[in-house]
Amino acid sequence: MGVVSVTWRVGGAALRSVGAERLQRAGAAGERASPPGPRQSPSPGPKPAPAPAPAPLPHSAAPSDRTETSGEAPSCSSDQAAGYPTAPPRVLTAAETERLARSRKLTPSSTSVPPIGLDISTMTTELIPDEDGFYSKAKKYWKNIPPTVDGMLGGYGHISSIDINSSKKFLQRFIGEGSGKASAGCALDCGAGIGRITKRLLLPLFKIVDMVDVTESFLAKAKAHLGEEGSRVGNYYCCGLQDFIPQPQRYDVIWIQWVIGHLTDTHLTQFLKRCQKGLRPNGIICVKDNVSQDGVIEDEVDSSVCRDLSSLRAIVRLAGLHLIAEEKQDNFPDEIYQVYSLALR
Ligand SMILES: C[S@@+](CC[C@H](N)C(=O)[O-])C[C@H]1O[C@@H](n2cnc3c(N)ncnc32)[C@H](O)[C@@H]1O
Repeated sequence: MGVVSVTWRVGGAALRSVGAERLQRAGAAGERASPPGPRQSPSPGPKPAPAPAPAPLPHSAAPSDRTETSGEAPSCSSDQAAGYPTAPPRVLTAAETERLARSRKLTPSSTSVPPIGLDISTMTTELIPDEDGFYSKAKKYWKNIPPTVDGMLGGYGHISSIDINSSKKFLQRFIGEGSGKASAGCALDCGAGIGRITKRLLLPLFKIVDMVDVTESFLAKAKAHLGEEGSRVGNYYCCGLQDFIPQPQRYDVIWIQWVIGHLTDTHLTQFLKRCQKGLRPNGIICVKDNVSQDGVIEDEVDSSVCRDLSSLRAIVRLAGLHLIAEEKQDNFPDEIYQVYSLALR
């Protein structure tokens, strides 16, 4: 299949989209065909969004042969027995987590063949032909980002407080006393970086917080960034979420922010399934991330994708999760993608 590449260059950063056929299939042609808004820097986390298109092209039907197999077994796992840690935590290296996983003979929790009938028209399979390259490029990208709040937010460090305050309000609806509420015992911060969220959202609300991120230097920096309260971090896992297996029934809340774009649809679906198994009774999973207006948009700079809300909801359904609440983030700068929080269980 011929692929026509379109490259935008705005503010020094390049966004490249795939060919016209793919554009139509992904239902994202409208967005991609128009020039994106201002883009200050290659910015993961909050990102300048493309300008809306005047008239989107119609979606094509979901291809019936769109199946993905699970690929390799996840190679990282929690290193903590049931209950809270007794030994001082330290960062498990990628090699250690891999060894640990191998020693436990871990197998994938499931395969992921999307059931016919679900909206899978935006599955990332075609956008990401080279899966290994997709992950290794992202890993390389993050290795070169400064371990600061601004680095975590792609130059938008100044919106961190607005983000955290809204997240706190959102999360507090689901935790505390009373039937159906999650306890305030243990939380997991996924794609935690230096612990921006762990520090200001999760540690103030939970007794213990575990962190997982693919970038070892961020986790190392987290120890200083978190200060004394960091003593309540149970585990630092250096691991890609595509490989990470949360310890079953350990978590009251699993927080996943500004990182799902680094996972393929299949890996995201599988990861969410594993997260569900990691929940304690009444536990919830919160996903907070950029959403595009329509379709899946690729970012070649940080090697990620931005999904629209309906694609994200379809993945949630595929993972067998229920959407408990959904909220749009207010008061973010106009030029960035819209950000949504989803509570799932
Ligand atoms: C935009 S930053 C967000 C950090 C944090 N969630 C926050 O909001 O402050 C994205 C983070 O995801 C991590 N990351 C990227 N790809 C990942 C993957 N496949 N698995 C786990 N973490 C990943 C990066 O190292 C980085 O720390």
